[in-house]
Amino acid sequence: MKQTSPNSFSLLIILIVIILTFTSCDNITAVEFIRSSSSSSSNTYFPSGITSTTTTTTTNKNHVNNIKNKSSAASRSHLEAEAPPPSDILKAAMKPETVGWIKHVRRIIHQNPELAFEEHNTSAFIRAELDELKISYKFPLAKTGIRAWLGTGGPPFVALRADMDALPIQEAVEWEYKSKNDGIMHACGHDAHVAMVLGAAKILKSREHLLKGTVILLFQPAEEKGNGAKQMIAEGAIEDVEAIFGVHVSHNYPSGTIYSRSGPLLAGCGFFRAVISANRSSGGGHQVHRSDTILAASAAVISLQGIVSREANPLDSQVVSVTWVDGGNQFSFVPEDIVIAGTFRAFSDMQKLLRRIEEVIKEQVKVYRCSATLDFFEKEYTIYPPTVNDNRMHEHVKKVAIDLLGSENFGIAPPIMGAEDFSFFSKEIPAAFYYIGIRNEEVGSTHTVHSPRFILDEDMLPIGAATHASIAERYLNEN
Ligand SMILES: *[C@@H]1O[C@H](CO)[C@@H](O)[C@H](O)[C@H]1NC(C)=O
Ligand SMILES: *[C@@H]1O[C@H](CO)[C@@H](O)[C@H](O)[C@H]1NC(C)=O
Ligand SMILES: *[C@@H]1O[C@H](CO)[C@@H](O)[C@H](O)[C@H]1NC(C)=O
Ligand SMILES: *[C@@H]1O[C@H](CO)[C@@H](O)[C@H](O)[C@H]1NC(C)=O
Ligand SMILES: [Zn+2]
Ligand SMILES: [Zn+2]
Repeated sequence: MKQTSPNSFSLLIILIVIILTFTSCDNITAVEFIRSSSSSSSNTYFPSGITSTTTTTTTNKNHVNNIKNKSSAASRSHLEAEAPPPSDILKAAMKPETVGWIKHVRRIIHQNPELAFEEHNTSAFIRAELDELKISYKFPLAKTGIRAWLGTGGPPFVALRADMDALPIQEAVEWEYKSKNDGIMHACGHDAHVAMVLGAAKILKSREHLLKGTVILLFQPAEEKGNGAKQMIAEGAIEDVEAIFGVHVSHNYPSGTIYSRSGPLLAGCGFFRAVISANRSSGGGHQVHRSDTILAASAAVISLQGIVSREANPLDSQVVSVTWVDGGNQFSFVPEDIVIAGTFRAFSDMQKLLRRIEEVIKEQVKVYRCSATLDFFEKEYTIYPPTVNDNRMHEHVKKVAIDLLGSENFGIAPPIMGAEDFSFFSKEIPAAFYYIGIRNEEVGSTHTVHSPRFILDEDMLPIGAATHASIAERYLNEN
């Protein structure tokens, strides 16, 4: 997921680069991990074979525990009695060996993070686990991506998606499975996303005879850089697939709870960079007659503000942020060129907003006898569409989550200005994206994604795996 950037226009400084700074006064509460049962994973794709399975000893008296209790036969609610298949799935997910295995998968991936389109070891690790589970797959899609399948091999086809890439962030959490790759960290929880889809695969494999169709498992590269999902689709990832589901961890919600909404969930996102140039043929070298790029850029920045405050439908959130201004470092000369760059986000038509940004900058700098050229990085980063949940798919997630975890563990999420490349899937086929909470003060899991202090309450992993598995299995039963 891409983080929201603030709508700030107030500053026009020679060089503003938004650098995320984090106060270093709060020390991380290290989670205590204790080695328990060992698993002899034959997977050798990651160096320095950490192969023993470990489990946390933290007993948090919160939702996760509630849900654990729900999975024990002794405390079956009437809801579960009405929907026996999900309950069996939760029991399968909560078996100690499954819990240990899912956490192990997440930790190995966490310890060996790889950047967008470089997820070679991560992909090899996933394929080895799929081999172990005797699940077939196609590889590669989009360089490192995988399309795996289980079930009847016939329609209907329903997909679960996980992203594999990490971020260029130096992990600041000291723990046993800290990132071994300097300056790279799974700070967006994609390690957990992979572990949950693999967990669902393991559960569903043991129930393959019950599947009334085919479950497709998609492991995609480069969510953070925007091309991953798009390239996966171009290479056939969602061929025959009629519905797709994806999850993102969220520190906003208590560990193990599910949140989502119908309609727009996450914004679309794009970037722009404008080079504003003085009219070199005017002024004859006299500073006073030259067109003033600083004034032109200032006016453009102020006018961009007007797009959001004056033109946008107030019910449709939009952000246009100038995050970068570069005009050199001279005291006595106005620069011939000045660069302004930034990001824009919206829940509505991204192309319309893009065209308006271009128009406003070009026309505004013309007033000051300057010209502008714009780049929207459409090749490199692509422009993410907004993530919009199909109503029927959202209702499916809601029903499954409530039946599986209880109505107290499901909620409606407000739309936020973050962006996700899952939106490329939701643009193509009916889709629902949902959050799974990871917030748990007891293990220090309170930091936002993209923080170097990001910690994840691993006790929610089997719950996420069970939710994924139930979503897929019930979709096939009911469609
Ligand atoms: C944070 O932890 C380090 C290492 O354990 C310690 O030296 C330091 O005093 C701690 N800082 C605070 C603010 O607790
Ligand atoms: C990938 O695995 C190879 C072989 O184990 C290792 O040498 C390399 O450092 C790994 N790369 C990353 C980025 O972890
Ligand atoms: C869950 O079960 C355990 C043991 O059976 C019990 O001690 C605990 O209070 C229960 N937790 C909740 C939230 O019901
Ligand atoms: C640049 O200056 C020349 C000469 O004064 C003028 O003809 C031309 O229209 C100017 N261009 C812009 C973009 O203002
Ligand atoms: Zn992210
Ligand atoms: Zn993410």
